[in-house]
Amino acid sequence: MSTSASNPVRTAIVGLGWWGKKMATLVHAGGAEMRFVHAVDPNPDARSFAADLGIRFSSDLASALADPDVEAVVLATPHSLHQEQIAQAVAAGKHVFCEKPLAMTRSDAEASVALCRDAGLVLGMGHERRFEPPIAEILEHAAAGRLGRLLQIEANFSHDKFLSLDASNWRLNATQAPAGGMTATGIHLTDLSVKLMGAAADVRVACENLASQIPQGDTMSAHIRFKSGGSAYVSATLATPFVSRFAVFGTLGWIEVRDKAHVEAPDGWIVTEGWKGQSITMREVAPAEPVRDNLRAFARAVRGVEIYPISGEEMIENIALLEAIVKSAGIGQVERL
Ligand SMILES: NC(=O)c1ccc[n+]([C@@H]2O[C@H](COP(=O)([O-])OP(=O)(O)OC[C@H]3O[C@@H](n4cnc5c(N)ncnc54)[C@H](O)[C@@H]3O)[C@@H](O)[C@H]2O)c1
Repeated sequence: MSTSASNPVRTAIVGLGWWGKKMATLVHAGGAEMRFVHAVDPNPDARSFAADLGIRFSSDLASALADPDVEAVVLATPHSLHQEQIAQAVAAGKHVFCEKPLAMTRSDAEASVALCRDAGLVLGMGHERRFEPPIAEILEHAAAGRLGRLLQIEANFSHDKFLSLDASNWRLNATQAPAGGMTATGIHLTDLSVKLMGAAADVRVACENLASQIPQGDTMSAHIRFKSGGSAYVSATLATPFVSRFAVFGTLGWIEVRDKAHVEAPDGWIVTEGWKGQSITMREVAPAEPVRDNLRAFARAVRGVEIYPISGEEMIENIALLEAIVKSAGIGQVERL
């Protein structure tokens, strides 16, 4: 069988903005087991970036989907386009790696997951935090029961990168990016929370505008309760310097992971652990490239080498939680799922 290592997945990168360029640069450097052969962006300024990488360039997705050399697409486009672009790619028989969020509502997420599944196409998601080595360790410890019964999660992923954006930027559109930093960063934390704790039961959100003109608010926190018991406190602020902290607490141990830098330029992690009957320890974890490793997992799934680790059910439950968070942010009351 040809593997993605010997036969990289020929892929179109759709959207060459901040994140599309980051992924294109990583893929070009190698190791993702995919190759970008076509780039799409309606902004003509992106053409020279594609030319520098030696890949074909189109201003519309249809041209890339008509390219017989393209097996898959990576969508790094504004959120409101994801649903329609997934449908277009699936209709053309292409595998899809979609940047987060998959959708804004449970029903739209269900529709995209079903489209890919029914067509036998792989759906990947830009939740690279799962591929950060210390976070992957947490997931393994939890799956093996080593943390005992999981009780609580505390997590914060915030930055102030958007404060300098022009007011017309889609990132500052309350419809496309509602509830403070929820679709920018918080969505990664709810993905991990749902992975660890299962489906959410209800959520109460506080979303305020404390230090900016950002229309969706700049500071949000969500208190989530899960159907299986346990809770998560997740916060995502758009007005404080970068911080990324994820902590999970179980009856046998707890682990806290802090990123030393934003994942656009990883600089390693600081991990603090407390295990029952043992002293608390702290260690550093060397830098890795989780964005590349997520793309590689997708490529391997396309080649049938391994199953993509983020399931459609997890994607749907995370978007159902996002939908409830947005509703609760609007009314300031508990929203049931
Ligand atoms: N996984 C992560 O950690 C991470 C980090 C940053 C952004 N993202 C995600 O990446 C996506 C893009 O975000 P960004 O910050 O790069 O935004 P951006 O605005 O910098 O880039 C979006 C690009 O899409 C292009 N575009 C617009 N309409 C298009 C269309 N119809 N077809 C093709 N391209 C089109 C724009 O011209 C722009 O170049 C979002 O889903 C965002 O949430 C993920």
